Amino acid sequence: MQILDGVAVSTHIKEQLKQEVASLKAKGGKTPHLAAILVGNNPASEAYVGNKVKTCAELGYASTLLRFESNITEAALLAEIQKLNEDADIDGILVQLPLPAHIAENAVINSIYPNKDVDGFHPISQGKMVLGQPGFLPATPYGILLMLEYYNIDLTGKHCVVVGRSNIVGTPMSVLLSRNSRPGNATVTLCHSKTKDLKQFTLQADVIVAAIGRPRFITAEMVKEGAIVIDVGINRVDDASKKSGSRLVGDVDFDSVAPRCSYITPVPKGVGPMTICGLMKNTLNAAKNSGK
Ligand code: GUN
Repeated sequence: MQILDGVAVSTHIKEQLKQEVASLKAKGGKTPHLAAILVGNNPASEAYVGNKVKTCAELGYASTLLRFESNITEAALLAEIQKLNEDADIDGILVQLPLPAHIAENAVINSIYPNKDVDGFHPISQGKMVLGQPGFLPATPYGILLMLEYYNIDLTGKHCVVVGRSNIVGTPMSVLLSRNSRPGNATVTLCHSKTKDLKQFTLQADVIVAAIGRPRFITAEMVKEGAIVIDVGINRVDDASKKSGSRLVGDVDFDSVAPRCSYITPVPKGVGPMTICGLMKNTLNAAKNSGK
């Protein structure tokens, strides 16, 4: 069993991006500039956005963090996004999800100009992805592809079972794994909360992508010997042995599943750092495409 080490892979990719940005700047090119919007003070969202802003600084990108109270109206938020859309210095815009219930997520996602949609959530980005046209890929599935590429894992003809059908992970992941590309060319089954006898599918899987949002949901008896397991879950569970009283676990019961696997991602330090790589690669591309 080999651990797919998100920290090692992301460090390698970030080093490449850092060098690319430095040479871009040396040639008088544009400094990539990411704008991040955080609404409210959800602690997990705070941590994610904080990491994204910190990574921008590490790589030599510019970043702007805009914070709004959770009672901001949808109209006011859309107006703020429009300012960023029209600001020629901003290359990428990300609105951290989830948003408060009174704000329609779709309206917000659809309001971002597609050429600045570095999260890859806009219908134009997702449409291009489905059609295999160049565009921004959703950051987490993109990061997973980068990780598979780094470890030279060939999925051609493999059976991948994606568990979870969210717009930002499960659905795009199923599309990307089935595309005629590398990594890709897999046979994909997309399972979800209404799938009957989930285990019947996961037991056939050469690769399981777990993106369900339920702690330790995938257990050893659901996994075939030698499978590759990619765990997208980030769930906080009580743990009295920790000073904070809690710890992070994935959607996979790592301790029981890992011994059966050929490869497995840990949580934390697996897919999480790769999501940031996907975002940073998209932001650099946005800057390059801005024509400055
Ligand atoms: N919430 C959970 N994952 C993500 C992500 O990749 N991007 C944004 N903007 N919000 C998220």
